[in-house]
Amino acid sequence: MDQNTPYWLPFTPNRSFKRAPRLLQRAEGMYFWNRAGERLLDGCSGLFCCSLGHGRPEILEAISTQYSELDFGPPFRYGHPGAFELADRLAEITPADLNRIFFVNSGSEAVDSAMKIALLWHRSRGQAQRQRFVSRERAYHGVNFGGVSLSGMPRNRESFGMGLPGTLHLRHTFDEARRFTPGQSEHGAELALDLQRFVDLHGAETIAACFVEPIAGSTGILVPPRGYLERLRAICDEHGILLVFDEVITGFGRTGSPFASDRFGVVPDMITLAKALTNGAVPMGAVAVREGIYEQITSSAPDGAIEFFHGYTYSAHPLACAAGMATQKIYRDEAIFERAAQLEPHFQQRVFELQKHEIVRDIRGLGLLAGIELEPGEKAGARGTLALERFFEEGLVVRVSADTLILAPALVAEPDQLDRICEIVSQVLASL
Ligand SMILES: Cc1ncc(COP(=O)(O)O)c(C=O)c1O
Repeated sequence: MDQNTPYWLPFTPNRSFKRAPRLLQRAEGMYFWNRAGERLLDGCSGLFCCSLGHGRPEILEAISTQYSELDFGPPFRYGHPGAFELADRLAEITPADLNRIFFVNSGSEAVDSAMKIALLWHRSRGQAQRQRFVSRERAYHGVNFGGVSLSGMPRNRESFGMGLPGTLHLRHTFDEARRFTPGQSEHGAELALDLQRFVDLHGAETIAACFVEPIAGSTGILVPPRGYLERLRAICDEHGILLVFDEVITGFGRTGSPFASDRFGVVPDMITLAKALTNGAVPMGAVAVREGIYEQITSSAPDGAIEFFHGYTYSAHPLACAAGMATQKIYRDEAIFERAAQLEPHFQQRVFELQKHEIVRDIRGLGLLAGIELEPGEKAGARGTLALERFFEEGLVVRVSADTLILAPALVAEPDQLDRICEIVSQVLASL
């Protein structure tokens, strides 16, 4: 491939990619096909998006029908039925009273929108001084400036200035001593007390919200210690701080429950969503917000006034809503979240068998989500990159974050496909 080809790939070493491109030509079900017509297993649901596998005819049909009926309409001061329908459906499955749905186009936009909602809510209650955000080391909250400020992954921050002032980071929950612990560790809940220390140091009255991924995903799957999220919830409650779960990866059945919030039994004040919301067919994200937050914000603006000066041209895009409705219908009709729960023990067992390889430094996982961390090679990330290239040659597409392989197969995978994913990983690890 010509190095001067105009396409600039995201989160990709462009020059080496263009020397040896990995092109995906077609997809169906659990598989991709490359340009040579060879089949590759999808080990990561695209990028945590295609939980129903690729190319579902029901989603195609919904998008196509919607396009012929209403291709686009302005989302500001106008609505369309699909947006209301999808919001109704999401409100049915979101936990507790997180029943107000603000649509966006990506996870990054969901995070930045949730940050603004938090600021606006406090302001509407006369607490405009609550402007600090708390997040966590090793967090990933997308790539917009708000989300990058919350982010705890150094490479995503280092070139882009100072970020939002006053953002504070809890310690991450990786524990060297608890390597190879399946599911939640019994130790580490006390790390949540970092939030209390921020309250003591900076004053609760300066803190707007605490954002966490219930399971930190992009950094390599860090499952929260037992009791950790509960403690964050308690500290937030005590000090009037909003708790936001970023469920862009963990939402829609990935943990075997509709949301990680359900799986861990902790209800946040907002949940950010994207990816599997539309099965990846059309970009879409959303923020699910507690009813009281919406009520407070809307009722404190004068009647007839815009309450939230925020939104995107493509918010609640009709094609995204159609894809979202079709996806949600399949989740319900085919009991997909329950299916993920049934597959979990088999998948996790297969994944944890990979610890037999000497170069595996740690394995972490829950639901249909797993991180396999390799001992670093000469340079951090080099072994991960090499593994990714070998997987592609052996017919497997996965995500690699530095030296950690991330598996997140579609929730419709058959057990023998899960076995095959782990077999290919095992073969490649043996060759590294
Ligand atoms: C937890 C989390 N938040 C936000 C994002 C950003 O989503 P997007 O890439 O759709 O902007 C991601 C993406 O992986 C994510 O994992």
